[in-house]
Amino acid sequence: MSHADDHEGTRRDFLYFATAGTGAVVTGAAVWPLVNQMNPSADVLALSSIRVDVSGVEVGTQITVLWLGKPVFIRRRTQEEIDEARAVNLEDLVDNNARNDNLPVGDDGADQNRAMDEAGEWLVMMGVCTHLGCVPLGDGAGDYDGWFCPCHGSHYDTSGRIRKGPAPANLPVPVAVFEDETTIKLG
Ligand code: FES
Repeated sequence: MSHADDHEGTRRDFLYFATAGTGAVVTGAAVWPLVNQMNPSADVLALSSIRVDVSGVEVGTQITVLWLGKPVFIRRRTQEEIDEARAVNLEDLVDNNARNDNLPVGDDGADQNRAMDEAGEWLVMMGVCTHLGCVPLGDGAGDYDGWFCPCHGSHYDTSGRIRKGPAPANLPVPVAVFEDETTIKLG
């Protein structure tokens, strides 16, 4: 499959999941009264924390949801993807920082510092290239089997870490937590 075809498919997937994701998201009830105030930040505030139902996400697939106006990738990784991410020598990383808002700044870029769970099955990241902000292609794209940004050729590995190309940093991991077995809360 050419990159063009690949891009086409992933773009369709993104649009589909962005739409589907909106339906799957439940906004925190506590913030709803604030929407009525209709001040400029009310809608942003209402979405500052969202819940995503991930019960339908199969191993080896991902969904993209919109959060604070930006795409967030939620991937349920295969064991192969996890093993590949954890076999990487940290000295080989372009950016050896976790870039994980759930951890202290300065933690290294080990996959264990980026995945949501100890086993590493769930990876949640902002779907925004750290070069100039394009949305990278997923599902094993690029030279490192993770994500590929076709805008200027940035390759991210199966942990979302930048490995090749102009992007300077790993895809950021937002504040995220499992509220129960099938619900991820962002923010
Ligand atoms: S915006 Fe992704 S490589 Fe430039």
